[in-house]
Amino acid sequence: MMVTKMNEQKITAKTLLAMKVRGEKIAALAVYDFFTAKLVDEVGVPLILVGDSLGMTVLGYENTLLVTMEDMLHHVRAVARAKPRALIVADMPYRTYATAADALRNARRFVEAGAEAVKLEGGEPVLDQVRALVSAGIPVLGHIGLLPQSVKETGGYKVQGRKPEAAEQLLRDARLLEEAGVFAIVIECVIASVAKQITETLKIPTIGIGAGAGCDGQILVGHDMLGLFTRFTPKHVKRYANLTDEMRKAFTAYKSDVESGKFPGPEQSFL
Ligand code: KIV
Repeated sequence: MMVTKMNEQKITAKTLLAMKVRGEKIAALAVYDFFTAKLVDEVGVPLILVGDSLGMTVLGYENTLLVTMEDMLHHVRAVARAKPRALIVADMPYRTYATAADALRNARRFVEAGAEAVKLEGGEPVLDQVRALVSAGIPVLGHIGLLPQSVKETGGYKVQGRKPEAAEQLLRDARLLEEAGVFAIVIECVIASVAKQITETLKIPTIGIGAGAGCDGQILVGHDMLGLFTRFTPKHVKRYANLTDEMRKAFTAYKSDVESGKFPGPEQSFL
């Protein structure tokens, strides 16, 4: 019998649940390509989200509403080729899960592309979709609070859960999603005390983004934390690097070397 060491085993929804039970924090990242997924996996991040933030950070769309299944599938395949130990979650784009049948059809395409779970935005309104996916054996990551795919209806990127009724609805959404079978819930831009209460109420892990330190885990968009998305920086982002500056310096130095004849030198030439 082959013995696999615990730390070499593939991460599943069960692994994340066990982390919550043990009080271990979950560090998740949204990234979209083979190379970055390999690197993120190498440092032991247990959950990789191929997020539809891809539309803004990589594809140059104004918001996430224009992201298509084809856009997402292309990047899910790239991340899957990295064969990470991390759980690969594919973000379902806007209007691809309007009905349970749509959700099922599109989620199956993600699974064929190498995703091991899908994420969809919303609480009560998407319960049928969640149930259909879970019944079909497709693990689902919920997403409540600020819902970027609904910004047109909700009036922009605003912090959620300030009013008691709003906080109550978030808690209700979280409970209903848990009952419907999601394995974890992303809580985006929610007042910290509300996110903490949700986290303490649920058995499944919560993964916060702009939802304070009381969540079971955190997720950041890779491009945001690396300083590779500079159109705006949300308050919840911590910059761990400024790769835009590094890239600008490298491109400038290269251009200057070519123009001055310094590149290529004998080291880069076949003599
Ligand atoms: O698309 C994305 O990257 C996301 C995260 C912000 C959670 O949904």
